[in-house]
Amino acid sequence: MSKVLVTGGAGFIGSHTCVELLDAGYEIVVLDNLSNASEVALERVREITGKDLKFYEADIRDRAALSDIFDKEDISSVIHFAGLKAVGESVEKPWEYYENNISGSLILFDVMRQHGCKNIIFSSSSTVYGTPAEVPVTEDTPKGMCTNPYGWTKWMLEQILCDMGAADPDWNIILLRYFNPIGAHKSGRMGEDPSGRPNNLMPYITQVAVGKLPELGVFGDDYDTPDGTGVRDYIHVVDLAQGHVKALSKIEEGCGTKVYNLGTGKGYSVLEIIHNFEEATGVKIPYTIKPRRAGDIAANYADASRAAQELGWTAANGIREMCEDSWRWQKNNPDGYGK
Ligand code: NAD
Ligand code: WQD
Repeated sequence: MSKVLVTGGAGFIGSHTCVELLDAGYEIVVLDNLSNASEVALERVREITGKDLKFYEADIRDRAALSDIFDKEDISSVIHFAGLKAVGESVEKPWEYYENNISGSLILFDVMRQHGCKNIIFSSSSTVYGTPAEVPVTEDTPKGMCTNPYGWTKWMLEQILCDMGAADPDWNIILLRYFNPIGAHKSGRMGEDPSGRPNNLMPYITQVAVGKLPELGVFGDDYDTPDGTGVRDYIHVVDLAQGHVKALSKIEEGCGTKVYNLGTGKGYSVLEIIHNFEEATGVKIPYTIKPRRAGDIAANYADASRAAQELGWTAANGIREMCEDSWRWQKNNPDGYGK
């Protein structure tokens, strides 16, 4: 049976997707340089599924290593998660972000086509919409001006893939624009393990809840939203992972180039997330209102109807499950995977 190569498969979204792929009966090969992940995550994937996967500790910028994997394994499709993703760090180190994400992806795409593998699912982001003129955003909402180099790498890689798909109809390319992934596997054995102080809201909340951080700063309460705090479309990581399995079926049908929003279609404010977390877990989250964070937008949430119609995918988990599952992971693993 042909196999699926999962780049960045030891990371947060990648490891959850590995579970869903194995459960769906796929054989998988994972490539990760472990720059932001631990191999323990892959041990947990094996533990949860009772199935094996092959792991290569390698870098997508290493052409020889990639070629070697494609020579050895019969790869039919690639799910491409590998990349650097910290927005603030990308402002400090733009060259490193462009080099890792863009050069690395160009090498991957080239090695793929040299080996006759032209099926790819790419991890894009709602960040490509910039500051959307209206919410909810559909896939036809124009891409916007990104506010940081990380966002531009997603924007540019989408363009590169679309141009490749237009030039060569043998490519099947699905761009998945994720909204705000949170939550964790229900087992409490896998979850998000950020390095250092978290940048994102939910890992910050769970680290406050577990006593690693004293309080949450809420970045602005004067946005044009119902309670003044930022509104986002939070999506359970397991729903997101299942979206990749659906996308893979679409690729196998021979779909050409497609783009899908993966979100729930519902926005929650920062204060609503705090209250939902407190209700779901019984743990109080102390917070103070801070100034707005540079580059933030007031509201962003998806119109996810295209994914429902064309992939048969909708998010099953609500905000309560997202909070409960994030908390179970953090409580059981206060130091994450110990990476
Ligand atoms: P993550 O950091 O947990 O996973 C990325 C993985 O890629 C890590 O395991 C890292 O070690 C690996 N990696 C990085 N550079 C590599 C390289 N050059 N060679 C090989 N491996 C490399 O991040 P995540 O949250 O799981 O995100 C996965 C993908 O989804 C990323 O492309 C990210 O930009 C995108 N995305 C994430 C979010 C989010 O909020 N988490 C939202 C939208 C899009
Ligand atoms: C959510 C809300 C903050 C932390 C980022 C990337 C985006 C995508 C997802 C990859 C906002 C507020 C946050 C805190 C707070 N990633 N907040 N206190 O900014 O929507 O999206 O992750 O592609 O590209 O930009 O997510 O979780 O950082 O913030 O008040 O300590 O929580 O202001 O309103 P964001 P986030």
